[in-house]
This record gives sequence, structure tokens and C-alpha cells, in this order.
Amino acid sequence: MTLGVQLGVPHPADPRTSAHAGAAEDSAPAAPEGALLEIDDLTVSYGSGASAVVAVNAVSARVARGERIAVVGESGSGKTTLALAIAGFLDPAVTVSGSVRFDGRDLGRAGGGRRPRLPPRTPGVSMMFQDAMTSLDPVWSVGSQLADVLRTNTGCSRREARVAAGDWVTRVGLRDTARVLAARPYELSGGMRQRVMLALALAGRPRLVIADEPTSALDASTARAAMDLLTELTMELGTAVIMVSHDIHLCAEYSDRTLVMYRGDLVGDGPSDRLDRPDAHPYVRGLLRCVPTLGDVEADLLPTLEQFVGSAAPA
Ligand SMILES: Nc1ncnc2c1ncn2[C@@H]1O[C@H](COP(=O)(O)OP(=O)(O)OP(=O)(O)O)[C@@H](O)[C@H]1O
Ligand SMILES: [Mg+2]
Repeated sequence: MTLGVQLGVPHPADPRTSAHAGAAEDSAPAAPEGALLEIDDLTVSYGSGASAVVAVNAVSARVARGERIAVVGESGSGKTTLALAIAGFLDPAVTVSGSVRFDGRDLGRAGGGRRPRLPPRTPGVSMMFQDAMTSLDPVWSVGSQLADVLRTNTGCSRREARVAAGDWVTRVGLRDTARVLAARPYELSGGMRQRVMLALALAGRPRLVIADEPTSALDASTARAAMDLLTELTMELGTAVIMVSHDIHLCAEYSDRTLVMYRGDLVGDGPSDRLDRPDAHPYVRGLLRCVPTLGDVEADLLPTLEQFVGSAAPA
């Protein structure tokens, strides 16, 4: 199966429902009533023959409407590939088997065998990438980019899109609306660009936002502010979120449920506040332990720093 083309259609945000309670380790997750996203036995491979890389291996998962999911795992574990498969951004040449259903619609059948004119994408899903600078168009102003998303997804007039673009700039906490709307992305700071990306991701009223490493280019306090804003706006709109990150602790804090990937396999799927439970997969416990806490940093680094300062200081 190759995930096929579907071009954008406007969708009002769905009401938020209660979070899926999660599933036991190593077993197929239970389907919550009316799941927004249903992934069954999804395998994605790049290349063919002996050199094929199985980036996602027989993954099954569910996301309920309005649910907040974290996908964590080390580099190369298949997080982005899983996200791209859900968003319909995989190249048609990539080998995909299994099924992905979004809002009751099987993404595998939607293409009807026709090669898309535009890259395939799943309507109702938007995606935020790690680097806002390379994700935003350097040529067009922020206002034009926002108006374009609004017109494409809501069918509003040019004038209405201009007004709504200003509203979105304000909504993501950027002051000086006129300057931001007129600015090219490179005229804004990294934190401001990230907010613009969030506005672009939400302006089309998606039912699911996938944020792939949305904060790893930001300093710790800007990252937290970005996560707070993402949470606040998506909860307000009832939008489900899949956040992809290396930072298991940050993700766990902002999600209802965490999926843990290891070499393409889904090795953990459970409530984010119970990741360290005794029956968790050893890799999940390893991942939790390998992130130093502030206490560890002080314990490990301060003696070294003191030693250095001591030897370098004048007698
Ligand atoms: N376009 C591609 N062509 C060939 N192999 C790819 C391609 N994209 C990803 N891969 C391979 O698939 C595997 C999973 O990659 P993926 O980018 O999904 O991992 P990731 O968990 O998102 O990693 P990171 O945390 O570094 O972003 C890796 O072995 C990677 O080299
Ligand atoms: Mg990635």
C-alpha cells in the first residue's frame, strides 16, 4: 500500500473528548470509541532488497480526538517516518504496508492510483517541523503565508484572510501585528518564527497537529513557552497533538500518553505519568534514566568546574 493523495478541505475543530487511558506494553492498544487516528500493523521501508531500511516496523496505535500523544525514542528510531506516514508526506515510492485510518477514512485507498500533482497529504492533519527557518517560505511575508493557509483551508475571501491572519498573530502572543505580518521569516527571532509556525499549523483548523521536535532549536525557557502555547491553543480548539521529541521528560509533562519507539518498533504505549512503572520495557526505563536531572548535573559537573576554577585562579 502506498499512502495516497487527498487535498485539503476545511474542517471545524472537533470537541475534545476524554483521554484514552493507554494500553499495556507489548499488546495492541484498545480502540477508544470513535478514535481519530487508527494505525494498524504499519510498516514503512526505505529502499529495497538487501539495502532496505525498515524505519517503522508493524506499529499499531490509536489517538483519540483531542488527545495529546508524545512519540519519543533515540535518533533513527522511526519517529519522523511514523509522523510523515500519518501526515501523508511520504514519497509515493516508499514501501508502506498496514493501514492508517484518519477520522474513519483509510489513507491507503484515497489516492485511487493517480499520481498526485502536489505531495500527498492528509486533510485535517498539519505538521510543524523542528527548524522554522527552513519550514517557512523566505520569499513571502508572514501575512501572505498565513492568508494563503486560511484561504486554502477555510475558503474565505482575501480580505477576510488578511483580518484573520492578524488575529492569529495576536493569538500566538506576538505583539506589533502589522510589523510581524509584513516581515519575512528571516526578519524575526527564532522564538517568533516558532510562534508563526504554530499559527500556520492551527490556522487551517486541523483535527490533529503533529509537532516534530518543535522546540529543539530553542533555548529551555523559550521551548517551555512554546509548549505552553501549543497546549493552550490546541486545548482551546480541541485539536489532538502528536509531539515527537528526544526529550522524554518534557514530552511526558505535556502529553496524556507516550509512545516509545526503538529501532522502528513500538516498545511502549502508556499514560505519560506512569512511564517509570515497574513493568515498563527496559528501553523505556533506560531512556528515562539517561536524561540527567538538575541534581545529577550539579553532582557531576560542579566538582569539575571547581577544580578548573581552582587551578586557573591566581594564588
Ligand atoms: N528518506 C529516507 N531514505 C532512506 N532512509 C531514511 C529516509 N528517512 C529516514 N531514513 C532512515 O529511517 C530510519 C528512521 O529515521 P527517522 O528519521 O524516522 O528517525 P527519527 O526517530 O525521526 O530520528 P531523529 O530523532 O534523528 O529525527 C533511519 O535509519 C533513517 O536513516
Ligand atoms: Mg526525526
